[in-house]
Amino acid sequence: MSPSEKSRRSVVVGTGSALPSCRVTNADLASRGVETSDEWIVERTGITARHIAGDGETTATMATAAAQRALEAAGVDADKIGLIVLATATPDQTFPSSATRVQTALGIDDCIAFDVQAVCTGFLYALSVADNMLKGGMADYALVIGSETFSRILDWEDRATCVLFGDGAGAVVLEARDTSDRGILATKLHADGRHNDLLFVDGGPSTTGTVGKLRMKGREVFRHAVVNLANVLTEVLDAAGHKVEEVDWVVPHQANKRILDATAKKLSLAPERVIVTVDQHANTSAASVPLALDVAVRDGRIKQDDLIVLEAMGGGFTWGAAVIRF
Ligand code: UT7
Repeated sequence: MSPSEKSRRSVVVGTGSALPSCRVTNADLASRGVETSDEWIVERTGITARHIAGDGETTATMATAAAQRALEAAGVDADKIGLIVLATATPDQTFPSSATRVQTALGIDDCIAFDVQAVCTGFLYALSVADNMLKGGMADYALVIGSETFSRILDWEDRATCVLFGDGAGAVVLEARDTSDRGILATKLHADGRHNDLLFVDGGPSTTGTVGKLRMKGREVFRHAVVNLANVLTEVLDAAGHKVEEVDWVVPHQANKRILDATAKKLSLAPERVIVTVDQHANTSAASVPLALDVAVRDGRIKQDDLIVLEAMGGGFTWGAAVIRF
C-alpha cells in the first residue's frame, strides 16, 4: 500500500494522565530510612521524585482518571468506546480485569474490556492489540491505558529497586478513520522469556498464592535494554518507511535517564527530540509511555501531524515500539 492511499487507521484523538497526590523526593526516601542519597539516585538514574499511591488510589482509579481526561481532550463521549485495553502488571485484583472496573467507573454498559500484561512494554502491546482490533472492525473507538501501582510490589528494604519506581496512569483515545496521513503507521513487538529471571516478581496466584515483590538484576537489564531498544526503533521505522532524521519526537519508556541517553546516542538521535519525564515520575512501568506522551502533548511540544515514536522494554524480557503520525 502506498503512503498516500487511504485506509482504516487508528488515530490518536486524545491523551490523558493521572498521578497520585503524594509526591516523594529522593531526600524523602533517605529520611524515611532507605539507605540511599539524592546524589546516588540522580547520578545513576536521573530520578529526583516519584508519586506514590495512597489510601483509595489504585490502578483502576488512576486509569479511570487518565481515561476521563483523554476522553475530554478527544471530545468523545464514553458511550462511544467499544474497546478498553488496559496494560498493567499491578491489577486491583487477580481477576476480574482492572479494565472492567474502568468500564464500570466510566458508565459504559457494554464494550470489549480486558487487561494486557507485558510489564513495562505493556502499553506498546496494548496499543498494538487495540490498533489491530480497530483496523479489523471490532470497534470504532478504543481506550488504551497504562496504569500501575508498583509501590505495592516493591521491597522497601531493597534500596537497589525501591528508589527506581513510581505510580501513575496514562491513556489515549483511538478513533478508527479512513485516512492516508494520520494514525498508527507501524508497531513491532518482541519477547524473550529466557530472561525471566533478570526482572520478575517472586510470587503469584499459581505459585506462592501471594502477590510477591519485585526483583531485578539492574545492571544486566540495563545492558539488554539499550541493545533491544535501538534495534526495535530501527525495525519499526523501517516498517513505517521513515528515517530516524524525520522523527519529531521519541517518547520512550522512562526507566533510567542513562538508558535514554545511550539509546539516543546509538541511533544518532538528537537528545532534544526525546521526551524525558523519568526525573519527575521515576519508572511507572506500563504507565510511563502514555504519561510522558500526555505531558508533552499538554505542554505543546507534540502537535498534530508530528511523527512520533514510542518505545519500551521490560520484564520477560518484552520490548516494542510504535510509529505514529500524530
Ligand atoms: O523498566 C524495566 C527496565 N528496568 C531498567 O531498565 C533498569 C535498568 N538498570 C538500571 O537502571 C541500573 O542498573 C540501576 C539504576 C538499577 C543501578 O545502577 P548501576 O550503575 O548498575 O549500579 P549497581 O547496581 O551496579 O550498584 C552500584 C553500587 C552498589 O554498591 P557496591 O556493590 O558497588 O558497593 C550498590 O549496592 O550502588 C549501590 N546501590 C545504592 N547505593 C545508594 C544500589 N542501590 C543504591 C541506592 N542508593 N539506592
